Amino acid sequence: MTLTLEPIITAAPDLQLSEYEQAVARMYDGKQQDFNLLLGRDTQLVHHHFGIGSVDANFESMTQGEINAALHELENAQVSFLIDALGPIGAEDRILDGGSGRAGTAVLVHEAAGCWYDGVTISSYQCEFSRALAAAKGYPRLRFHLRNMLDTGFAANTFTHALTNETTMYIDDMHALCAEFARVLVHSGRYAFATWCYDELVDDARKYIDPIDEHYLCRMHTRGEYFRALSDTGFVPYSVVDLSREALPYWLLRNHSEHRTGVEDLFVRGYERGAVRYLVVGAQLVAPKGSGSQ
Ligand SMILES: C[S@@+](CC[C@H](N)C(=O)[O-])C[C@H]1O[C@@H](n2cnc3c(N)ncnc32)[C@H](O)[C@@H]1O
Repeated sequence: MTLTLEPIITAAPDLQLSEYEQAVARMYDGKQQDFNLLLGRDTQLVHHHFGIGSVDANFESMTQGEINAALHELENAQVSFLIDALGPIGAEDRILDGGSGRAGTAVLVHEAAGCWYDGVTISSYQCEFSRALAAAKGYPRLRFHLRNMLDTGFAANTFTHALTNETTMYIDDMHALCAEFARVLVHSGRYAFATWCYDELVDDARKYIDPIDEHYLCRMHTRGEYFRALSDTGFVPYSVVDLSREALPYWLLRNHSEHRTGVEDLFVRGYERGAVRYLVVGAQLVAPKGSGSQ
């Protein structure tokens, strides 16, 4: 399959959102003068995901400014795991980002590869913010669309890669998402995702998961749901990394932030118990196109 190199032009579908999706969109439309913006103000990398990695400092003696800087470094470091999971990306590759937030991941991936990049979000504020950022940076290959990642409106075989960065917990049906990605990806295309999920083998996992779901208005999946959905839609994982241990320092540090929200302890205890898991997965579409994957 050869890719056309012209900009992708598709009719933007009317944004069809369920009541739940509307509530999620309203929540993200409302997050404008928030902690994420504060962390990314100087770098122009505004993330809505958590951090990965260690912090080589005594939390007790850090100033709030140092805590913010360290949290932001961990957020940026998180994206490098996703870039690794995507595998080699060329300048003419096309990436779909499902749930692109305020473009922090988009900017880092685009700067790493120079590739075409289409982010979709259901938040009109985030979409406008990201478009303005791409224009200000002079990145015409970086485009953002107000669309549902479950029904992107892009033509079949448009993308070489798809990614989701901590967004799948807003999707009820992982099978539907993987089927849509299988449709828009070329054969052998890659889908990489970073997500927190929960371990179905831990009896009391929901004790941690229910209040986290409530806090973020999300619906966390079990680890197994991801792999079933991938397998049932023609994807084969080639890289699975459990970063639960590396996810913990971010939460321990956030507990020392004046911006802590109260959800920190749930993640700390959830990770310590093994109930919450942090996964970065790379998968390749191996099912022949047109045989159930379109
Ligand atoms: C936790 S934020 C992550 C944002 C971004 N990936 C990042 O790493 O900063 C979740 C994002 O998913 C988006 N989202 C949730 N449900 C969606 C859907 N059905 N279609 C497209 N975007 C969706 C939200 O608008 C928001 O941008």
